[in-house]
Amino acid sequence: MIKSQLESIRQAAAEKIASAEDRAELESLRVAYLGKKGELTAILKQMGGLSAEERPVVGQLANEARTYLEELIALSLQRFKSLEKNARLAGETIDVTMPGTPVPRGHKHPLSIVLDEVKEIFLGMGFSVASGPEVELDYYNFEALNIPPGHPARDTQDTFYITENILLRTQTSPVQIRYMESHKPPIRIIAPGRVYRSDAVDATHSPLFHQIEGLVVDRGITMGDLKACLEALAKELFGQATKIRLRPHHFPFTEPSCEVDVSCFRCGGEGCSMCKGEGWIEILGAGMVHPQVLRNGGIDPGEFSGFAFGVGLERIVMARYRIDDLRLFYENDIRFLSQF
Ligand code: DAH
Repeated sequence: MIKSQLESIRQAAAEKIASAEDRAELESLRVAYLGKKGELTAILKQMGGLSAEERPVVGQLANEARTYLEELIALSLQRFKSLEKNARLAGETIDVTMPGTPVPRGHKHPLSIVLDEVKEIFLGMGFSVASGPEVELDYYNFEALNIPPGHPARDTQDTFYITENILLRTQTSPVQIRYMESHKPPIRIIAPGRVYRSDAVDATHSPLFHQIEGLVVDRGITMGDLKACLEALAKELFGQATKIRLRPHHFPFTEPSCEVDVSCFRCGGEGCSMCKGEGWIEILGAGMVHPQVLRNGGIDPGEFSGFAFGVGLERIVMARYRIDDLRLFYENDIRFLSQF
């Protein structure tokens, strides 16, 4: 009687466990059959009413049934666990072949494109690249360059003063003095960088712009060296057909001084809207380093001579790409920048 009861419990439990649909159902089956108040446990509690011969036999059968059901439950639990794991893995799958989110690629600013070209040109001629502070002493920016207090050249460079002696440099020329102070000839450098002038912003003026200074000091340097050097620059920048023209000019720190024009690369010198009918476009100032400037840099003008030049970077980039408004360089408008 008890045996057949055991057998039918065992069978019913095995079927239900096999068809359980999740862990929760499995757990409630476990409680229903094997728990303290479970069906199998209830059977074992009836064992007291059995004969001494029957008791061990039924006891063994009951224990076997218990073990059997426990194993079934464990197996089923295992199956649910691995199903859950697979489902989780499937949910986390990464398709490495899926196209990514595009990252728009930037590129060099037009000022940097041309500056890098200029650097390459001069590095090719044996120059190195130097730099100096943008917050500068009056001494280096003006005085050591033969521009004492009250000199009219100061009026043409409206200056941002920080104190009476400290200012935002108005030109890259102070790097000349700083470099001569710390280096002996032969000197061949360019010094690009930001310069500042208290100018109102318009199409051709900005309180911040860029210059590239050049300085060569050695024995026997002449104006011929200056001309050849700048001609090489002009041809590389604006094309091999480009000619240059030196016009007499005045700078306090060079003697003699000149302004340098390049033949208009649009009309070849005929005269057009680009060169305003001149055939020439002014690109820089230059000259032979003034003896007093050499002396201020600790160099003996009896032994050494040199030439210097200063180019406005914006000016040559505007000429090169026919840009008519300097403000475009600083506005960070992608529609403008992406054209280069
Ligand atoms: N520093 C000058 C300026 O800002 C440009 C210049 C002219 C630099 C002649 C030079 C030079 O080195 O020799 O207007």
